Amino acid sequence: MRILGIETSCDETGVAIYDDEKGLLAHQLYSQVKLHADYGGVVPELASRDHVKKTIPLIKATLAEAGLTPSDLDGVAYTAGPGLVGALLVGATIGRSLAYAWNLPAVAVHHMEGHLLAPMLEDTPPPFPFIALLVSGGHTLLVEVKAIGEYQILGESIDDAAGEAFDKTAKLMGLDYPGGPLLSKLAEKGDSARFTFPRPMTTVPGLDFSFSGLKTFTANTIAANDNDDQTRADIARAFEDAVVDTLAIKCKRALKQCHMKRLVIAGGVSANRHLRVKLEALMTSLGGEVYYPRTEFCTDNGAMIAYAGMQRLKNGEHNDLGVKGFPRWPIDQLMTIKS
Ligand SMILES: Nc1ncnc2c1ncn2[C@@H]1O[C@H](COP(=O)(O)OP(=O)(O)OP(=O)(O)O)[C@@H](O)[C@H]1O
Ligand SMILES: [Mg+2]
Repeated sequence: MRILGIETSCDETGVAIYDDEKGLLAHQLYSQVKLHADYGGVVPELASRDHVKKTIPLIKATLAEAGLTPSDLDGVAYTAGPGLVGALLVGATIGRSLAYAWNLPAVAVHHMEGHLLAPMLEDTPPPFPFIALLVSGGHTLLVEVKAIGEYQILGESIDDAAGEAFDKTAKLMGLDYPGGPLLSKLAEKGDSARFTFPRPMTTVPGLDFSFSGLKTFTANTIAANDNDDQTRADIARAFEDAVVDTLAIKCKRALKQCHMKRLVIAGGVSANRHLRVKLEALMTSLGGEVYYPRTEFCTDNGAMIAYAGMQRLKNGEHNDLGVKGFPRWPIDQLMTIKS
């Protein structure tokens, strides 16, 4: 079976074809980063309009890359939520319409399930059950994963998501959008010992997160110090250390609470090198393993949507003719797939 996957939930147009026997056959990505850079963040209307321009050419390019025609496909999957409603509706309209025209089932995919399952595209996929830390531009979620669709949310951010905190802090420091990777690069030259930022909500019980206060802490630290290159790098380092430590403390707590030794990290922030090193060390100390997607599949992409769509399609799930987008869609409302 082969499925076409379409991702348009935010500022990346991603398309891929996944074969349940051969794996990923082709994938293409177009990033709108340059389009939004002048505004310092994603402008929803511009994002939707650009998806309208890019999605069909990208589908053609992906089919050509795989050497396939629509008649070789068994289904069309598209991100139906959560995300920006206009952007979602572009992918949903195109995906649903193509499925109708090609007489194929259409599968509405949950974007965060896509992120969660992205490590399944790697050579050594994580076996179930595991704890997943989903850290992206819009979400920070700790999830107990027993099977595909059997998700229990253990904790989440009560304000900014981890990626959002990286981006907003980077903006404060005068870095371009999206600032997360740039802030992380700057932090490499920083001295960990110079500033110590708080590890929010780690001294209270529970698995929720709060990152918005770190922005204020960063702003105050910037205001109270010189603006030389080394100080900027030291501040970036202190911020990154605080986020990474906080995430690691909560992962450890979640693993202990659920008696598990397997951790999956996914979403844009899982590309962060410092976070990977920290969580690898944590899992080594616990005698467990950590799994994450290849760097290009940490941020939004069509491959994860095609993969998640394939699992849903094989489970007999597909959608009616309605074109629907769900800007908010809790991940624990999905159907469990029993293996
Ligand atoms: N190396 C890195 N270090 C820190 N943050 C990073 C790194 N690489 C990417 N990010 C952050 O990841 C986020 C983008 O990830 P992703 O594409 O998964 O998010 P999104 O799709 O916008 O949000 P969501 O998936 O919640 O809808 C941005 O906030 C970006 O700054
Ligand atoms: Mg995403």
